[in-house]
Amino acid sequence: MIYFDNAATGGRKPDQVLTAVASSIKVCANPGRSGHQLSLSCANLVHACRGALNEYFNGYGVDKVVFTKNCTEALNIALLGVLKKGDHVVTTCMEHNSVLRPLEFLKNIGTIEYDVCPLRGDDERSKNIHPEDILALIKPNTRLIAVTAASNVNGAIPNLEAIRAVLPKRVLLLCDGAQGGGHLPINMQKTGVDLLALAGHKGMLGIQGSGALLFSDRAEPSPLLFGGTGSMSVSLQMPDFYPDALEAGTLSFPAVLSLLEGVRYLTVHDRQIRSRLTMLTACFLKKLRLLRGYECYSLPNPCGIVAFKHQRLPSEHIAELLSNSFHIAVRGGLHCAPLMHEALGSLDGGLVRVSFSHFNSEPEGDELIYALEKIDAM
Ligand code: ALA
Repeated sequence: MIYFDNAATGGRKPDQVLTAVASSIKVCANPGRSGHQLSLSCANLVHACRGALNEYFNGYGVDKVVFTKNCTEALNIALLGVLKKGDHVVTTCMEHNSVLRPLEFLKNIGTIEYDVCPLRGDDERSKNIHPEDILALIKPNTRLIAVTAASNVNGAIPNLEAIRAVLPKRVLLLCDGAQGGGHLPINMQKTGVDLLALAGHKGMLGIQGSGALLFSDRAEPSPLLFGGTGSMSVSLQMPDFYPDALEAGTLSFPAVLSLLEGVRYLTVHDRQIRSRLTMLTACFLKKLRLLRGYECYSLPNPCGIVAFKHQRLPSEHIAELLSNSFHIAVRGGLHCAPLMHEALGSLDGGLVRVSFSHFNSEPEGDELIYALEKIDAM
């Protein structure tokens, strides 16, 4: 099968990630719980991963890197753990339900109010967030802006620097790095990102069950989960220091190790990955535009995402045909980002989303073009 669903989860991992995960399952102890040598060596690798993430994203310190099981959990900590009664939030039409649903929950229980920044652009492909539209929504009690690094639907990339530049200093900037992490150069301190939520299993090249939240001193998230941390064991309260305050329960050591090797791989290869994905999306879009019956919703991008639809056939039907008749994996339908689909006019019928990894090749893209041509002729 040709796998083009890397925005849902990375289909292929670098060898060094696989080797590290296999070794961590063969021999492993609980990092941070016991004092024996094996536990300590696992704890050292967990610490190394915090350090690698902190360095890669120019974060705010090794203790401000906490591990989660996915990006959704990281976003929930960032929103439910930071926002207080009376706060106002601005978010955008591009966001995934992992941002929108926690915000809607907090609104419904009377904790916050939030506004959604619309998209503007000359056509569907170039629609994006405009910083002045965000600025227009800021109120005196606006505490936080939640913006994705890249749309999971069509790979559109908001300009985080320009958004930060119009925000009052007191406002926290939360970036959802589910799709952008590993694909885009995100420099937290330089850009003024206060909270960065990451999925480990997509562009970061780790395995499922890995995720992280990086945050600044200004953010100070409270825990959502309570339990053992291996520290301050005599106390019935959660430790008041990070990362322990946000890491109750045993970490997934294989997941953390996969993330460590993923970051190490990215540190060497991320520029090549970005240019390869931009090339793959550009070549594919160029050929797709020549096909009869299809309409494109993406520009070439380093996240590897291309969204399109067919004039007659619903996107889920195309995805099913591609899987069953051509052994090609893509995602159809709505991609858990309802406001983005509304903004693109694709709520009805959804979009076919092709998401490349740098392990994919141009001839594989050509096979997809061939399949789409056949499907149009059916
Ligand atoms: N959020 C992931 C996607 O876009 C699962 O497919």
